[in-house]
Amino acid sequence: MSKKHFSVAIDGPSGAGKSTLAKAVAAELGIVYVDTGAIYRTIGCYVYDKQVDPKDAEAVTALLPEIKIEMQHGEDGLQRMFLNGEDVTTKIRLPQMSMYASAVSAIPQVRTFLLEMQRELARTHSVIMDGRDIATVVLPDADVKIFLYADAEIRAQRRTLELEQRGTPQPYEEVLRDIEARDWADSHRETAPLRPADDSIMVDNGDKDFEQSKQFLLTLIKDWVGL
Ligand code: DC
Repeated sequence: MSKKHFSVAIDGPSGAGKSTLAKAVAAELGIVYVDTGAIYRTIGCYVYDKQVDPKDAEAVTALLPEIKIEMQHGEDGLQRMFLNGEDVTTKIRLPQMSMYASAVSAIPQVRTFLLEMQRELARTHSVIMDGRDIATVVLPDADVKIFLYADAEIRAQRRTLELEQRGTPQPYEEVLRDIEARDWADSHRETAPLRPADDSIMVDNGDKDFEQSKQFLLTLIKDWVGL
């Protein structure tokens, strides 16, 4: 475990392999992995349960004071999410929560509501944080900023396999359609759209397998941080 305090931002479109890689790299470096998508999914989950339109900014904003989100990082590196005390770690991964998360994440009040929680984690721990706006908004002073991407078709193939393994299968065509729709929504919203920071390191993950990508990121981070 490194004694040095540092932060790594990993942004990129959905299904680029951010979470799997960030989690493995964090374990190797002995630092905390923060999946910020899970936080937006947790808000999406609450909005879904309340049967509120996730695009209705006013209605969603009115729900925010009722929401208490907690995160726990277990020994196994798994990030458990709690919504008003209920463990929603599995529920937030249901396919319908993806679009809800994407829709609520476009609402500026939602982003402001979650900003301090994310920054606080990086202040108190060395972190690898993955999301869409980590390098541009949440941690603009991160020690390393990585933008991880891959073609939509490759990402859809990987996500289809992942959903199958989780026991929540979905046809490839549907997964691809969802990924393309989310790419568009996440990168065209007005507040904190998905884009690399000027000093992000661009990493194409489409032509590498998991081990190659992991080693590549580890070397990159160690070089930049000076570990
Ligand atoms: O990474 P994910 O697929 O679990 O994220 C779910 C949604 O949350 C995604 O469509 C966009 C949004 N999100 C965001 O706007 N900003 C982040 N930092 C992380 C996720």
